[in-house]
Amino acid sequence: MDLSPGEIKVLDYLKRNKTQKVRETGIEIEGMNRREISSSVSWLEAKGYVHTERITSSTWKLGPEGMTYLSEGLPELRAIKIIIDQGSIPLKDLSAKIGPEKTKIALAQLAKFGIKPSSGALAAPPNSADILSRIEERQSFLGKLKDGLSDSNAISAFRGRENVLQEVKSYDRVIELSDAGINLQFDHGVEDLLGEVTSDMLLSRSWQGKEFRRYDLNAPVENAYTAYLHPLTSLIQKIRRIFLDMGFTEMPGHYIEYTGWNMDALFIPQDHPAREMQDTFYLKSEVKPEFEHPEIMKAVALAHEKGVKSYRGWGYKFNMEEAHRLVLRTHTTVSTIRSLYDNPNPPVAVFSVERVFRHESVDWKHLAELHQVEGAVYAKDANLSTLKGLMRHFYHELGFDDLDFIPSYYPYTEPSMDVVATFNGKEIELGGSGIFRPEVTIPAGLRYPVIAWGLGLERLAMFLYDLKDIRDIYNSDIEWLRHFQAKI
Ligand code: PHE
Repeated sequence: MDLSPGEIKVLDYLKRNKTQKVRETGIEIEGMNRREISSSVSWLEAKGYVHTERITSSTWKLGPEGMTYLSEGLPELRAIKIIIDQGSIPLKDLSAKIGPEKTKIALAQLAKFGIKPSSGALAAPPNSADILSRIEERQSFLGKLKDGLSDSNAISAFRGRENVLQEVKSYDRVIELSDAGINLQFDHGVEDLLGEVTSDMLLSRSWQGKEFRRYDLNAPVENAYTAYLHPLTSLIQKIRRIFLDMGFTEMPGHYIEYTGWNMDALFIPQDHPAREMQDTFYLKSEVKPEFEHPEIMKAVALAHEKGVKSYRGWGYKFNMEEAHRLVLRTHTTVSTIRSLYDNPNPPVAVFSVERVFRHESVDWKHLAELHQVEGAVYAKDANLSTLKGLMRHFYHELGFDDLDFIPSYYPYTEPSMDVVATFNGKEIELGGSGIFRPEVTIPAGLRYPVIAWGLGLERLAMFLYDLKDIRDIYNSDIEWLRHFQAKI
């Protein structure tokens, strides 16, 4: 059976080696890296020249919580120190000191030492000095573990606390020559075989009489990965394609907007709760971009103060300064109203898939930066059925066929409806939609109905890609992305 140069080198190494069994990770061969050695070993095994046995070993390293506790102290340590210091402490005071999460952990751990709350407080037991020293020992394990020293006491102290200590498994193989391997003779070294023919060799004919190295068509080679689009990018492209195919035009937009456009032009009252700091990122900038089309703001102010036609407006005094504050746009509906103002000749069908910003705390279901699939149709006979039909078509293209439209509220649409899909038995809120109110269209000089929608992209991606945590969409770990790409 033919052997590759790498296989010959490994076989040679094993034959020279005095001991019978060799660990794969211990093999050092000049000119070969770990992966090449490993694949040569596998081939030698497949060809019957060696036997291998897999061995697993584990070491431990500090997990994310372990790292935190290393610097700030274990929750149970912080708690016991406070308890000893004060004799007794109400749980809510402890919680105020070290935080509710840490208090929970401290309680669970202290319970193992027999310290349990009674009537809402933790008191220091007589043997608390002893408990303290045992917990301090535990704390000192963290430092050792950080330095890669794992002893069994340290490991058992943190058993069951996976975020404190994480197991790192490593694999190795023990390799032994088989009888066939021992008996195999090879008459020449790899170096004697010709790998390539150079022009010098041709001129001097030095290749004559030599043997050529054969190509091993079965030689294992490294996986080659082609470039992929990020899953979110490919979803965005797919969505773009759907709207472009329906004849929509992609609309431009800006991350930074005036509240006048982001909110006032959409008839969001100036004292609306969503305007307050917790939902909106306001900019402190001294330098302000040009306020495009300031003229529309007069009509907008009038709509807020007195209304339009038979609609009464909000009835307060419009504050023009408020309209001149800068924000990171909170929704892309701002791009819709701008685009329609710029292109007031119906029919107009526009869309965008763009980023918006919300002052939200980030968790498995929420992001502070997210994308919206926005769009609108401005046409003489645009109506609620047109809107529902468009939504149905759009989601059908993405594989969602079970849609419901439920009544909702947005200050700029009437009627308003939320789009809800049922997918694999689960209900997903996809986003909002509706028909722009006259208080929005009339100041913008629009004469016909505008149907509009703003839909979440990441929520959709979560369901399409079966993710448990919305933040995983922005995971940039290359291995994960490859695995993920394979899945979709
Ligand atoms: N702008 C709304 C949001 O951010 C969605 C929406 C767009 C609702 C257009 C109605 C019309 O959730």
